[in-house]
Amino acid sequence: MKITKVEAREVFDSRGRPTLEAEVTIDSGHNGRMIVPSGASTGIHEALELRDGDRQRYNGLGVKKAVENVNRKIAPELLGCDVRDQGKIDQQLINLDGTSNKANLGANALLGVSVACAKAAAAAENLALYRYLGNDKTFLLPMPMINMISGGMHANRSLDLQDFLIIPVGATSFQQAMEMSATVRSQLRQLLDKQGFQHLGLADEGGFGPPLDSHQAAFELLLKAIEQSGFRPGEDIAFAIDVAASQFYHDGQYHLQTEQRQLDAAAMVELLADWSEKYPLISIEDGLAEDDWQGWKLLTEKLGTKVQLIGDDLLTTNLHRLRQALESDTANAILVKMNQIGTLTETIAVLEMAKAHDYATIVSARSGETEDTTIADLAVATAAGQIKIGSLATSERMAKYNQLLRIENELAHRSVFSGRKPFRRT
Ligand code: PGA
Ligand code: ZN
Repeated sequence: MKITKVEAREVFDSRGRPTLEAEVTIDSGHNGRMIVPSGASTGIHEALELRDGDRQRYNGLGVKKAVENVNRKIAPELLGCDVRDQGKIDQQLINLDGTSNKANLGANALLGVSVACAKAAAAAENLALYRYLGNDKTFLLPMPMINMISGGMHANRSLDLQDFLIIPVGATSFQQAMEMSATVRSQLRQLLDKQGFQHLGLADEGGFGPPLDSHQAAFELLLKAIEQSGFRPGEDIAFAIDVAASQFYHDGQYHLQTEQRQLDAAAMVELLADWSEKYPLISIEDGLAEDDWQGWKLLTEKLGTKVQLIGDDLLTTNLHRLRQALESDTANAILVKMNQIGTLTETIAVLEMAKAHDYATIVSARSGETEDTTIADLAVATAAGQIKIGSLATSERMAKYNQLLRIENELAHRSVFSGRKPFRRT
């Protein structure tokens, strides 16, 4: 299984922006391809996504430099390597880059190649990716958290909060989780239509982005949509939010435009606690800013035993930051995005470390996505327990949901659905 060819090209993501696709071929003729996703509300501690910066092309967003790095610098290094040596290949990529945040070759260049190697190896072994990555351990279908209403960077800041999501905790299979969520989404659409929002386009992750007066209004709409679907809020379907607080944190204050208020960390924690009292809110992501460790400590003390507190910008799929959180008892869950760190091996190491310390793990898409379904297989193979893909709309999201449906179907009686297990503390 020797690598005979490594090449990259510029393709497009769901926002119509360029992104990198890598392709790895081995001597048996098998190959693997990966298209790298891209964030909009990126954390400052993420690995670097290399963009050309040439204003003449795609407003600077071209990825030709990253493509060149794959074709000219990475390819010659990897030719002849055994494609199954994922750990060794990823270490070679890390060494070749030589920086702590992949700033030299670009995390997009590295990740594309890293995952394309795994896919080529899986193809050669005639295994689905989740089987190849999971070594035939127990496969776990994840509980999805599904975007319903968007704000922040994904919806022109119509609300300060970035995502209002639902978690179909009452579902007993992945298929049922999808069915319940689709029902609620369609009820929500009708409610929004009645309020005159039918002409609004979809936000970046396929959710609705109505210009509501308050965050409370979004929660109330969700409650109504759940009830009108015949489900019990909290019992059948719970709420999650991604506050993405780094986006509105300046000078030590959280600037909530929608609420017309500025809050310090303690007041922000009170607001989140208040919402989790009033609503069946069982998961809060990035409730505070990416470097507000003190605020995060307060939040964890206040809500950590009852609410899932996810670090996204806080932890950036980074082992060092995760360790810092573990040592300081901060947060209790981690969002895992492969392109925040840049190789498959490092991603899996973070998942394993989090699980070993009883942190919940949520494999996540980015706001800029493609038809690539790697994260669906990754979530099943690593028994992550939860997945966050976006809304139930647009093909770059649906491709991943459909892949999970396919996997559940294929595993039939041997698959286990995560269900509400990850929320035992909530
Ligand atoms: P991003 O958003 O992909 O734009 O960073 C996703 C998230 O914040 O979870
Ligand atoms: Zn987030």
